[in-house]
Amino acid sequence: MSASIADPRLDGRAVNRIAYEAETIASRVSELGAEISADYPDGDLLVLGLLKGSFIFLGDLVRHITRPIQVDFLVASSYGSDTTSSGDVHMVYDPETVLEGRHILLVEDIVDSGRTLSRLMDLLSVRRPRSLAICALLHKHIAEHLRYPVRYVGFDAPNEFLVGYGLDHAENFRHLPYIASLQ
Ligand code: PRP
Repeated sequence: MSASIADPRLDGRAVNRIAYEAETIASRVSELGAEISADYPDGDLLVLGLLKGSFIFLGDLVRHITRPIQVDFLVASSYGSDTTSSGDVHMVYDPETVLEGRHILLVEDIVDSGRTLSRLMDLLSVRRPRSLAICALLHKHIAEHLRYPVRYVGFDAPNEFLVGYGLDHAENFRHLPYIASLQ
């Protein structure tokens, strides 16, 4: 199937189908926020968003967390301008906040090969947080390289190249309010 979505944001570029509508995402993100709020009854909770892909998800998610939190970011990159992960995970920004003794919730947009999360979880674990968990909006369940459980999953995602709601292809499409498939 070829491009058939009429959306001026796409500027005529090929997007195959909408995988998750904005309303579907909003409803699931609200559920995740409620779950996270209930699961952390005490202690300092630092929500760490992995940029750039999680920026919209994180912004929506934290507004559904009804307990005190702090927010910081990590920056890593594993893709170039291609549609496949290079496997070479670069740390671009490392939070300066103290992690020791705090509950850390690492927020990711999508788990693909799992290389990014494995690498980051290794790095965060050695800083002795009180707990360390992963929340991913999308999980393809193909992550042979992921050595850590994903505690919160928004959606079990198809093995397609997904864009929108923070996810990009060559830095395009991040601003789509829905998630679409390029295949
Ligand atoms: C993408 C995505 C995840 C990661 C998933 O990030 O946002 O962080 O790749 O892939 P993996 O499970 O195979 O490691 P990217 O490196 O493209 O950076 P971005 O968040 O700035 O888009």
